[in-house]
Amino acid sequence: MTQAFAPRPLAIAPSILASDFSKLGEEVRSVDAAGADWIHLDVMDGHFVPNISYGPDVIKAMRPHTKKIFDAHLMISPCDPYLEAFAKAGCDHITVHAEAGPHLHRSLQAIRSLGKKAGVSLNPGTPISALEYVLDLVDLVLVMSVNPGFGGQAFIPSAISKIRDIRAMTAGRPIDIEVDGGVGPDVAGPLAAAGANAFVAGTSVFKGGTQEAYKANIAAIRNAALGARGEAI
Ligand code: DX5
Ligand code: ZN
Repeated sequence: MTQAFAPRPLAIAPSILASDFSKLGEEVRSVDAAGADWIHLDVMDGHFVPNISYGPDVIKAMRPHTKKIFDAHLMISPCDPYLEAFAKAGCDHITVHAEAGPHLHRSLQAIRSLGKKAGVSLNPGTPISALEYVLDLVDLVLVMSVNPGFGGQAFIPSAISKIRDIRAMTAGRPIDIEVDGGVGPDVAGPLAAAGANAFVAGTSVFKGGTQEAYKANIAAIRNAALGARGEAI
């Protein structure tokens, strides 16, 4: 398949939210060994989203268990008072929601000034115009394909055309396009064809509960995406 753009490297990002919290270090080591590219960290505050997960201290405790990229997804409002804590905890990417506060531009400036990659996440109901005036400060766009707050929800298909539009908007810029929610091998192909290069997966990676299962689950997503990109498997 020929493409009119140079695709960003493919990344599979297991969401630790779906792991066994009683053995977080072991789960991080397992998905690392099973082929994860990034470790996706879902931070929820019970205010911006209707669920509470974990914060910087728990992330700091996971950090020594892998050298892989820590991809933090902050579903918290406000986010600005906590950015430094997430940076110090070892997050490499810090993604904030466009809907989380009135000063998205300021939040992205702050993340960049902490020396981290800055991401913007869009809820399913948020238009991509929210990105237009911050693109110079963005390293990553995280497209929600479920309403954030819980793992295990059904994929919302409108994410595919949204990703296609974001790819056009970000063409020529070094910006990763990541998709999050209900992602498995069944939708990874169309998502990759639309322009997503990073795939968050919780339920579809951690099902089976063993390192062997994680390896097969990650490979299935990767192979579906690689096939759609026309890259050798
Ligand atoms: C939802 C989180 C997701 C979630 C994905 O608010 O941002 O990262 O853990 O889980 P699955 O893959 O089960 O939809
Ligand atoms: Zn997430």
